[in-house]
Amino acid sequence: MSTLGLCSCFCTLALASWAFARSRRLPLPPGPQRKFWSGNEEILPWDQPWKEFAAWSKTFGPLIYLYAFGRDILIVNEASATIDLLETKSALYARRPTWSMVALTGRKDNIAFMDYNERQRKARALLQGALNPRAQKSWGPVLEEETTSLMLQMAQSPESFKQHIRRYLGSFITRFTYGRKVDDSELKLGDEISVHTQQALRPGRWLADTVPLLLYLPDWFPGMAFKRWARDARTKFIEYTAQPFREARSSVLDGTANQGMVPDTLSDIISGASKYKEEELVSAAASIHTAAIETTYAMLMNFLILIMAHQDVQEKAFQEITSVTESTRQPLLSDMPAMPYIDAIIREVHRFNPVTPVIPRSPVQTDSYKGYRIPQDTWVMFNIWAMTHDANIYQDPHKFIPERHLPLGHENSAKDPRDFTFGFGKRICPGLNLANAQIFLFVSQLLATFEIRPPLKDDGNEEEVVIEYSSSFVSLPLPFKCRLIPRSANVILY
Ligand code: HEM
Repeated sequence: MSTLGLCSCFCTLALASWAFARSRRLPLPPGPQRKFWSGNEEILPWDQPWKEFAAWSKTFGPLIYLYAFGRDILIVNEASATIDLLETKSALYARRPTWSMVALTGRKDNIAFMDYNERQRKARALLQGALNPRAQKSWGPVLEEETTSLMLQMAQSPESFKQHIRRYLGSFITRFTYGRKVDDSELKLGDEISVHTQQALRPGRWLADTVPLLLYLPDWFPGMAFKRWARDARTKFIEYTAQPFREARSSVLDGTANQGMVPDTLSDIISGASKYKEEELVSAAASIHTAAIETTYAMLMNFLILIMAHQDVQEKAFQEITSVTESTRQPLLSDMPAMPYIDAIIREVHRFNPVTPVIPRSPVQTDSYKGYRIPQDTWVMFNIWAMTHDANIYQDPHKFIPERHLPLGHENSAKDPRDFTFGFGKRICPGLNLANAQIFLFVSQLLATFEIRPPLKDDGNEEEVVIEYSSSFVSLPLPFKCRLIPRSANVILY
């Protein structure tokens, strides 16, 4: 190395150590008073905490530091700070925090929880490639067919609309992933797996999150019930993911496989024509269920309750749909550009209650931002709900107004909330293209086929719609009923 090279290496190192030493001296961001032992645990809100976190900004500003369950926590309530951290410093914040129960329940190879490493990046790229607009040519018609068949099922037993929607989501994902139909026992297992994942992620639910030492004690030790629960959850997760993968492998080898992400990629891997390894495909396949079904289900439920509560919006949407289809067919993906009002409704549903109100990330090393120190491994919680309810970005943020998004893409129209709700930077949702397509088809076909109305009271009047949301990691409306009234005797053609 030349003297000049050595000098520049030395200067870079000196600058980096100076910046690191300086950042260690910086204060932590402001936050509520902490107790010596329990930090901020006692004041942590449990009911839709994102709302309380947003309110705390009035006192502490957009960055709020907390200490709870043995870890540093930073709440980020502001869009510009989120973009600074997740996009400008994307590599530093590309990691998820460590949940002790993720590994114990067998989810460690899931794209959403893996460290940002080579295998994660390749598995992401594989999934993104299979879901992108070009690949949509192969799965788009399947999605259209599945959506229309959902409408038929809903017409046959509208009171079971939730079960029909869950089956529809499971059925499409199974066809997309493995190229085959789903059976009822698989759907039931899938639902169980989703419940386990949500429970494993619940903050403050597990003592092992605060005292990781517990993870090393044997299963028979008193107080280790959580390990037995996790073992059971892991066994079911393996049954749900490894078994179908093995079956797909056999069908590729004996030449009976249908078209699907796993069989297609596997046969390329086996023939040496793929740039991916089998372990990356395993990760991509095992991640889809949790990532796709719970989020899309929450979004569709949110749409249903909001449209039921806003009959004027529903009527306008129906007029737009019939002006395009002339009531002779179901809407298709190719109708999307001709239905801007449907798009505006979907944007507003995303904004009104983001499916994942908080996105967790963790810096790989201590960082400094706006004069504050953000310690390495801090749980940084990006509060998406606060951003989609920021009155500086969205006027009257607590009102459901699809018109704020029109004309689409115009400089005076509201910012597309999907720029927030699908995440940011290196971990942005790789399924967003599929999600957008599926939500559009569901919304347009449902509105074309049914009038969505509140249930009737004993006196024959309609019940008032009460809109409340769960506090889970994936947030959805609390259980509700609705009436789906077919707009015509012939559901498919009407
Ligand atoms: C309404 C539907 C959906 C919403 C709102 C949504 C939202 C999100 C968000 C907020 C993240 C975290 C992004 C970040 O950390 O910046 C994420 C990650 C992810 N999503 Fe989605 N998602 C949806 C549907 C889907 C679908 C349909 C799939 C797959 C078929 C999918 C696959 C994934 C995966 C694998 C990750 C983990 C990415 C990573 O950590 O690198 N999502 N999604």
